[in-house]
Amino acid sequence: MPENPKSLRIALNGVTGRMGYRQHLVRSILAIRDEGGLELPDGSRVALEPILLGRNAEKLADLAARHGVDEWSTDVDAVLADDSVDIYFDAQVTSRRVDALTRAMRAGKHIYTEKPTAETVEEALSLATVARETGVIAGVVHDKLYLPGLVKLRRLVDEGFFGRILSLRGEFGYWVFEGETQQAQRPSWNYRAEDGGGIAVDMFCHWNYVLEGILGPVRAVTARTATHIPQRWDEQGRAYAATADDAAYGIFEVGDGIIAQINSSWTVRVYRDELVEFQVDGTHGSAVAGLHRCVAQPRSATPKPVWNPDLPETQSFREQWIEVPDNAAPVNGFRAQWEEFLRDVIAGRPHRYDFLSGARGVQLAALGLESSATGRRLEVPELSA
Ligand SMILES: NC(=O)c1ccc[n+]([C@@H]2O[C@H](COP(=O)([O-])OP(=O)(O)OC[C@H]3O[C@@H](n4cnc5c(N)ncnc54)[C@H](O)[C@@H]3O)[C@@H](O)[C@H]2O)c1
Repeated sequence: MPENPKSLRIALNGVTGRMGYRQHLVRSILAIRDEGGLELPDGSRVALEPILLGRNAEKLADLAARHGVDEWSTDVDAVLADDSVDIYFDAQVTSRRVDALTRAMRAGKHIYTEKPTAETVEEALSLATVARETGVIAGVVHDKLYLPGLVKLRRLVDEGFFGRILSLRGEFGYWVFEGETQQAQRPSWNYRAEDGGGIAVDMFCHWNYVLEGILGPVRAVTARTATHIPQRWDEQGRAYAATADDAAYGIFEVGDGIIAQINSSWTVRVYRDELVEFQVDGTHGSAVAGLHRCVAQPRSATPKPVWNPDLPETQSFREQWIEVPDNAAPVNGFRAQWEEFLRDVIAGRPHRYDFLSGARGVQLAALGLESSATGRRLEVPELSA
């Protein structure tokens, strides 16, 4: 790539899927393209040229026409062999990822990819090794860390608001319809272990980088997974056996003695303000963050409830928290990370959320499943590639 490229050519695979289409193509790449390109620190702009990749020519042609994209192809190898293509992005089903990413790196492409990066820790680590060998820049989606709610939570940590942090409690989930009378709002492969599904595999890689990025490295895990709903109906209305876990209850030991508990479930109904919320409690303050909002309560304004089951509660606990302001324009987390990754590619420097970080996420999911199967608490070994 020239030192000051005028444009970046980005091959996007899996753009007919839920994440690939909405978050990566429309809200990130096309949004940046339509604003005149990626803005660099010196105020100049680099144009983005997407190339849509996939298996279904009809769907790709339709997508390209609807969004004014000039190039699409079902021949991934031909696009990878094209030296003018700078970046390969992957949002395919997880099971297809390692092979595609490895081939793209061997073809000299920089990589940006959805999580989980692989189905096994060994494969996830092999990606880090190939990235090192080929010298390409690699980035793994860590979208939650870029969202306003978690940015504010991290700011409170950096400012020392919490004092000594004691614990984190996270609640993620919503009701995913079984698909019989109402269509499911997630793809059916998510509920089949043999197709790379399961909520532990899906969410523990997020929890790894969220915990690591806000509180510190995860040192041990104790988890219990469950398949609460054993039968579901797929996109064609056919009944199938749900072989993957649809709920995972985890305890994570983080940093220097912080205990984090996170429930992940596709079988709960929401009585929360957001679909995921984290409460952090420390000696000097507490905060609750969702994807967008964050509220805080300092020690000096902490009420003193007294347990009395004989009388109805008179305090309105939710009103006792202070809204933490954004102090910045709202962002889409996926787009924010794309922009950072693209600037890293242009500057020729590593992206901070790389394949090793991705592998730690895959490892936490694998250990979570092992902990559940064996009933044991498992320490998290340090990884290197
Ligand atoms: N970052 C996040 O918050 C987040 C959220 C959901 C999913 N994801 C990840 O994104 C990836 C895609 O998930 P999704 O929910 O968009 O799935 P999806 O089923 O909607 O899309 C899958 C894409 O892969 C393609 N594909 C390639 N080979 C396939 C095969 N053999 N069977 C089925 N589809 C195949 C499909 O055509 C489609 O473009 C997954 O790896 C998932 O873990 C990330």
